[in-house]
Amino acid sequence: MTTRPSPTPYALDIDGLLTRTPTVRHRLDLSRPVSRALLAHCLQIALHAPNGGNRQSWRFLVIDDPETKAGIARHYKAASDAYLAATPPTAMSERAVDGVRHLADHLHLVPALVLAGIRGRLPRDATLAQQSSFFGSVYPALWSLMLALRGRGLGTALTTVHLAREREVAALVGIPARTVTQVALVAVAHTTGGSDFRPTPRQPLDDVVSWNRWQR
Ligand SMILES: Cc1cc2nc3c(=O)[nH]c(=O)nc-3n(C[C@H](O)[C@H](O)[C@H](O)COP(=O)(O)O)c2cc1C
Repeated sequence: MTTRPSPTPYALDIDGLLTRTPTVRHRLDLSRPVSRALLAHCLQIALHAPNGGNRQSWRFLVIDDPETKAGIARHYKAASDAYLAATPPTAMSERAVDGVRHLADHLHLVPALVLAGIRGRLPRDATLAQQSSFFGSVYPALWSLMLALRGRGLGTALTTVHLAREREVAALVGIPARTVTQVALVAVAHTTGGSDFRPTPRQPLDDVVSWNRWQR
């Protein structure tokens, strides 16, 4: 599919985009479709992201078929329930658990899911450099996709919990799991309650950044 550039519909400068792109779960508009042209355009932008050796081994599957979404959502829900059951109560706030549960309960209704994968499988004895380059060759593109969508007023949630059921999801959508590794699933929707989001809360800079000598 070829895509035509489209301007972002509302003003959000680059710093605003980078600091106000949260994981959207409760505010996903489940009643409004997301156009394929818009998704294709934002994916086209995402393909400019850095990646190891510029091999572009990433692959993206857009899922907007209700039955396929329902199948994925069933696996997602099972994996998410298992994850939450295994997570100590002190590890996540009640609010965070509520958000994760809400997304798992509504994933089948999210207008579009983008399943990202990468060609190849990491060998069991993969070096740290291989591991980092492998998954790191997909995440910048996913973040670009999320930012491009956000710049057009949409919301996203980047998730990995379904990977506990990677094989089942691969079989459902025809991914050759022996030669392609799934990396993440991004829920995509327009947002309810406008397009405004507060800056995402983060630790103070000085708690995580040191200069010249590692201190943290
Ligand atoms: C690698 C990765 C995996 C994630 N997996 C999930 C997931 O499976 N389910 C989910 O609801 N959120 C998932 N998230 C979203 C995080 O929970 C979220 O980014 C974090 O809580 C910070 O919130 P914010 O993005 O709104 O600032 C994931 C984020 C990343 C970067």
